Amino acid sequence: MYKFYLTVIAFYCVVSTSCNNTSDQATANKDSVDHTTTTISNAVPDKKGFQTTIDGKKTDLFILKNANGITAAITNYGGRLVSLLVPDKDGKFTDVAVGFKNVDDYVGPNDAYFGATIGRVGNRIAKGMFTLDGKKYSLFKNNGPNSLHGGKKGFQAVVWDAMQPNDSSLELSYLSKDGEEGYPGNLNVKVVYTVTADNGFKCYYEATTDKKTIVNLTNHAYFNLNGDGSGTINNHILQINADRYTPVDSTLIPTGKIEPVANTPFDFTKATAIGARIEDNNQQLKYGKGYDHNFVLNGTGLRHAATVTGDQSGIQMDVYTEEPGLQFYGGNFMQGKSSFKSGKKDDHRTAFCLETQHYPDAPNHPSFPSIVLSPGKTYRTSSVYKFSVNKSAP
Ligand code: GLA
Repeated sequence: MYKFYLTVIAFYCVVSTSCNNTSDQATANKDSVDHTTTTISNAVPDKKGFQTTIDGKKTDLFILKNANGITAAITNYGGRLVSLLVPDKDGKFTDVAVGFKNVDDYVGPNDAYFGATIGRVGNRIAKGMFTLDGKKYSLFKNNGPNSLHGGKKGFQAVVWDAMQPNDSSLELSYLSKDGEEGYPGNLNVKVVYTVTADNGFKCYYEATTDKKTIVNLTNHAYFNLNGDGSGTINNHILQINADRYTPVDSTLIPTGKIEPVANTPFDFTKATAIGARIEDNNQQLKYGKGYDHNFVLNGTGLRHAATVTGDQSGIQMDVYTEEPGLQFYGGNFMQGKSSFKSGKKDDHRTAFCLETQHYPDAPNHPSFPSIVLSPGKTYRTSSVYKFSVNKSAP
């Protein structure tokens, strides 16, 4: 915690000297864009690429910023975080959220939930089946034998109603109708994304239903803390406050056991390079083709879940969440088929996700924390990705 405060203080020193107003930021961005030796993306994307009509609804790009110049760009197509500019160790604004430069690329076949709001149920449901009050429900199997991230057309592919109440927040709303993707109940969802005064990207989720249903919302931001387009994330340093994780079968469904991470490549309790053990002879790593696992976070309530540092940028991201789990996905399925806004391809392991969530396949594991939502109750949960500079980074 002490180290965290030190890095926050260091961060404030950086922003107060080099980028405490928007014109300085514009200069920083312009300078970086003109810099032909780098392809790292560091400009706010052009809104025009996001202004179209999908499913009869208008899409756009919304720009959120705080007084320190931290700037997020979010489209209401899938509630996607398209870019996130934060200062690096030299005060240079760097786009740490990997994404595309126009909405068409997100609609295309190579989308892998880039930056998206995920629902109704994030992660996998075994065989697309679950039972509620004795009634069986069947979902679309879009991931081998399983249902993943809401099914065929999850929340990542719908157009949300958007309202920007102020410079730093965006409210997204969506009514998922009774029976949509096989889930029961009309689900009213609200998601508020905020760039906070203390340099966080906050995700607040809220939902109500008129029939008993299941819900597990998350955001599928892909991060590269050295900047979108800067290559492997395997040298990023990761620490996760989880003594245990949920091992999976070959289709990435939890076996139901909750096992200690100690003496496995899943032990990130001490800060470790992401790739340090990725080639270990470990069955779980083989099943995930790398890291694609749910970590059982220590503690409860809104608490510190993880810290990641970009090895080149010194940018540190601290994750806080109320959720019991954290899916760490190391970009194993990135295939180099699409070009990001940086101009670089979505190459293998060039971005990672830390998806705050309830455990995968929760409806089929009564011992896991429940994701059932009943009428009259309100689902509410918050997660924050907070940025600073780690001056002691390599
Ligand atoms: C999630 C899954 C991964 C993969 C990505 C998208 O994080 O856990 O297995 O499907 O989404 O490619």
